[in-house]
Amino acid sequence: MSQPSKPIKNIGVLTSGGDAPGMNAAVRAVVRGGLHYGFSIFGIRRGYHGLWRGDIDELNGQSVSERLQRGGTFLMTARSQTFNTPEGVQKAIEMARVFNLDLVMVIGGDGTFRGARDLSRQGFPVIGIPGTIDNDIACSDYTIGYDTAMNTAMEAIDKLRDTAMSHERCSVIEVMGRKAGYLALNVGIATGAEVIMVPEVTTDFQGDVVKVLLQGRNSGKHHYIVVVAEGAGSASDIAAKIQETTGIESRATILGHLQRGGSPTNRDRTMASMMGLHAIECVRDGRVNRVVAYKSGNIIDIDIEEALDMKKTIDPLQLERAHILSARRGF
Ligand code: F6P
Repeated sequence: MSQPSKPIKNIGVLTSGGDAPGMNAAVRAVVRGGLHYGFSIFGIRRGYHGLWRGDIDELNGQSVSERLQRGGTFLMTARSQTFNTPEGVQKAIEMARVFNLDLVMVIGGDGTFRGARDLSRQGFPVIGIPGTIDNDIACSDYTIGYDTAMNTAMEAIDKLRDTAMSHERCSVIEVMGRKAGYLALNVGIATGAEVIMVPEVTTDFQGDVVKVLLQGRNSGKHHYIVVVAEGAGSASDIAAKIQETTGIESRATILGHLQRGGSPTNRDRTMASMMGLHAIECVRDGRVNRVVAYKSGNIIDIDIEEALDMKKTIDPLQLERAHILSARRGF
């Protein structure tokens, strides 16, 4: 297990990649937990971009007051291109040393964790906290922001169902997830979608869409919900194709960045708080280069190299199960 080569005193914290509701709660936990155990905590603005630019300021207990319930990230975030190069990583480490940082805690998704691994491989200690609405971090069953995004999308789709029902239409809703369909899958299950399309599983348009919708119509359905992850196709194209093939009037809605905003749910606030505190406890106990994860109901930590070697994907059986639930058998 990795241990720091010198005692850790100053901890930097950043949020990177797509923002996720609950990131503020995680930063608050890092700050309040860190101060409790005698560390000094520094906020790095705009993710890795801010690290190599030295956009860094010390935080105190009050800096995180009134943040817990807010969406977005008050530290702001970015997708840094410069940091994605060996020179960028070196520059970031040099700047961290200018500010006497001994370790950086990163809150974000897969790309954020890969950045942290790059820092650790250059001998700079890190801790990762999973935060993305995509829930696609392999080592963790849960990522901060996922629950809020699912609820936001679910509420929007419930509203779309009202109008789809009134007009006897098919409503095709595109949810976020370029590479991951967890959001689409679970939002689809929760809204009783007839069809769910995810990037991990190939959709056969005739069999999985046309046939399913027509079988629905033949069993007495008058309106339909199709949930598509952005990485599995475009809602507008799919709606046009459905209308052309089945004759069912169709409309497309792209929920887009709406899903990333809003006040975090209880689950995201508590997960973020406990994960942030766990990250601090790792450092307190001398464990670095770790990723905080949620596994089988517990918050744990895993070596960052091992964590990034792990894989997870959607089991097609889950789509089959969703289909069983939405299909009507007879009148
Ligand atoms: O990583 C989270 C996420 O919201 C994905 O679901 C989505 O594909 C992507 O970010 C969009 O990124 P951006 O806001 O940079 O367009």
